[in-house]
Amino acid sequence: MPTSCRPTTRWRARRVADRVVAARPRPDLLQRLAVQTAEREQAHLLRRLRTIEQAEGPWLQTGGRRMLSFCSNDYLGLARHPQLIAALTRAAAQEGVGSTSAHLICGHRAGHARLEQALAAWTGRERALLFSTGYMANLGVLQALLAPGDICVQDKLNHACLIDGAKLGGAELKRYPHADVGAAARQLGSRPGAAALLATDGVFSMDGDVAPLRELAALCAKEQATLLVDDAHGLGVLGPRGAGSVGAAGLGQHEVPLLMATLGKALGCAGAFVAGPAALIDGLIQFARPYIYTTAMPPALAAAALEAVQLAQAEDWRRDRLAALIARFRRGAEQLGLPLMASTSAIQPLLLGHADAAVAAMQALDAQGLLVSAIRPPTVPAGQARLRITLSAAHEEDHVDRLLGALETLRLPRRSS
Ligand SMILES: Cc1ncc(COP(=O)(O)O)c(C=O)c1O
Repeated sequence: MPTSCRPTTRWRARRVADRVVAARPRPDLLQRLAVQTAEREQAHLLRRLRTIEQAEGPWLQTGGRRMLSFCSNDYLGLARHPQLIAALTRAAAQEGVGSTSAHLICGHRAGHARLEQALAAWTGRERALLFSTGYMANLGVLQALLAPGDICVQDKLNHACLIDGAKLGGAELKRYPHADVGAAARQLGSRPGAAALLATDGVFSMDGDVAPLRELAALCAKEQATLLVDDAHGLGVLGPRGAGSVGAAGLGQHEVPLLMATLGKALGCAGAFVAGPAALIDGLIQFARPYIYTTAMPPALAAAALEAVQLAQAEDWRRDRLAALIARFRRGAEQLGLPLMASTSAIQPLLLGHADAAVAAMQALDAQGLLVSAIRPPTVPAGQARLRITLSAAHEEDHVDRLLGALETLRLPRRSS
């Protein structure tokens, strides 16, 4: 019977093809990776790991040298706060170190629930859900919401985990030029019938500028698209009582139903959360694989983060101090004609162009006892390497002056005045 012969014929053909392929050796994956690493080294783009031997506010010891750091994300200076340390040690003494399990098994403790309630109240959302890292939170929310056939529209400068989340969800990913709301509108308009999600950083991690959130929210309302804002660098720093860039833009849960932020930056801890309507959180608990299949964050960390949330809300002086340091740095850098970017946040990059220029500047600052990171492709587009300078409420005015003094001695591109 010809019909019953067809699968057998196909099976034979596949075996022949397999034999032909088997005659060729398989590529060695480790060797391929080694080649890629060597290529990156040849292009002077190798990433290097630095071990910090001691940390004391903005002072870090590395290679036996005490350095003044301008590269941490501890924007409010909370990472070493005695109340956070006391909360962490108290909770660890009571509950142990590990949560011992995933949230859905027996890892979800009262401390996690208290922190979730505090985060929801702070951001003006119905509920919040903790994730172990920001990376996992973005993977989780995008994977749970998106499906093949959907469209996910994103700013070109979004953090890597938003891009990876869209890929994990299987949606068609379209990236619009940075902060270009018109281009985002055209991309949404290209697939009018598809379920659509628009994702943006609130404060861009390598540029420090704030997304046009009100315009994006209006676009999403018009296009019936769901808006996700990653406020990793805005929470604690911007908005009334530090509620973040979304709060600063006056956008509620209705306009921004998906709000994600991290606990490892201005809050000085680690971990992240997604906040929004109760139905969203219920759905994430069911379907977000990076939430379900992983060990819950240590309860002691949740206790420290709760303390950080309370301090971040109550202590406006930290934001005032940070704002004063940012203004001081920008004033000084403008006087020196340095290539500042359009940022009013704690992230103050100096755009240097070629990767070698950024590395040379980083090394020259290092020689003067200052730790600043050079950000190069592929983290930023080619030709846009930069020094990523970050400021913290833990800095003193004379720290900023010392940095400006060191920058003055470098041969950096200058804007003519
Ligand atoms: C915008 C943004 N989103 C997400 C993340 C990831 O957060 P986490 O470090 O908690 O994984 C980062 C941090 O690196 C970030 O800058």
